[in-house]
Order: sequence, then structure tokens, then C-alpha cells
Amino acid sequence: MDLESILFSQGFGSRRQCRTIVAQGRVRIAGSVCTDADAEFASAPAPEFEVDGTAWRYREKAYIALNKPAGYECSRDPQHHLSVFHLLPAQLCARGVQSVGRLDQDTTGLLLLSDDGAFVHAFTSPRRKVPKVYLARTRHPLDDAQIDALRGGVLLHGEPKPIAAVAAERRDERLLELTVLEGKYHQVKRMVAAAGNRVEALHRERIGGFALPPTLAEGAWCWLDEADLAALRGD
Ligand code: URA
Repeated sequence: MDLESILFSQGFGSRRQCRTIVAQGRVRIAGSVCTDADAEFASAPAPEFEVDGTAWRYREKAYIALNKPAGYECSRDPQHHLSVFHLLPAQLCARGVQSVGRLDQDTTGLLLLSDDGAFVHAFTSPRRKVPKVYLARTRHPLDDAQIDALRGGVLLHGEPKPIAAVAAERRDERLLELTVLEGKYHQVKRMVAAAGNRVEALHRERIGGFALPPTLAEGAWCWLDEADLAALRGD
């Protein structure tokens, strides 16, 4: 694959802009500046390169985990807050990365993003029941009746039948660990309200077998590798 095509496929702009980036000497391969946009690179192992001093590796598809801070909307066109896309490099946004489902503006934690439409669809489809683990700080102390209601199923407005948590555990007096399979609008907040309490802060800790990496700072993102994707799928 030639250098121009590599940069183009990774979101560095139009083909013309990619040629200019190369001609300006802003691209390094194995530490040396490469000014030949037609230079060919083997596609395996994936070519590594630096643009303006930042290291990149060619990826056919982008799979990303973001540690979402509060105060960011998952929409590209946010109404009242910043967008999570403001936390990603422009190259990732340019290649059409989208969020895999949504978290509320005030929810923190694990958000997946990808430009692989099949992946996004698979993980957001109501038919694909992927467990999602949330930590909810509640306004009132959690009692046994609330935990039982969450485990047994609560009826949410507009839903034909009660929705049960896969697991509901009290981590401390007002900290609930809740695992749900669905991804309905405000689902955790509505379930906790239906059980007789109120969510004051919500954090997503895990999707499938993939947990938010403890080293990933709030607002930071990382690439997902094959092992992470396998954990997500529960392989
Ligand atoms: N449930 C909610 O209520 N909010 C979220 O952001 C995610 C799940």
C-alpha cells in the first residue's frame, strides 16, 4: 500500500492533503522523514508511521475505548454540552468513528467507538444481549426490597413487560452494581427509580468481558486489540 493511501485511509484528509503532508516532510517511517507519497509499504505487519511527531499504525478499522467524563454528549451535534468527539483526534472523527450506543451526558466510564458499521450494529442491536455493568451512586440507602425488585424485574413506562437486572449487588450503603442486558434510554436511572430510589451518579465499568482499563484516565481513549475485542464478544 502506498503512503498516500495509508494516510488517506486513516483520516488524514483528502488525497491531495495527504500528498501535501508527505511533501512537507511531516511523515516519518522508522524514524526517517519520507517525502515520497508513492512509497510502498507491506500491509502486514501493519505499517507504522509518525505524523507531526505522533505515532500511528495502519488499522483497517478503528476500535476504541473512551473513558467518558461527565458533561459530554455522545452526539456529534451536541445540544448543550461538548461532544465526546471533541476528545478524539481529528483523524478518528474524519474516518467516521461513531459511538457504540450512548451514555447520558452526566454518565461516566466506558464508551466504545468504531468505524466498523457491522460492529456498531452488532453491539447496539436489541437482539444481541451484551451484559453491561454499571455503578450507580444512589440518593437513598439501598434496601433489600429495592435489590429484590431490580433482580425480579421492574416495569418501565412504555415497556410491555418488566425488565430484570442480570445482577444487582450493594457495594456499599448507597453504591449499587447493576448488570443489564438491554440498552434502553435512561435504563439504569429508570430501573432504579422504579425500584424506589434515585441515581445521583452513574458510571459504566464493563461491557461483555471488557472492563474499562484502570490506567485509562478520564477523557482519555485507547485502541482495542484483538484480545479486547474477543473479551467484548465473550469469546
Ligand atoms: N442507563 C442510564 O440511565 N444512563 C446511561 O447513561 C446508561 C444507562
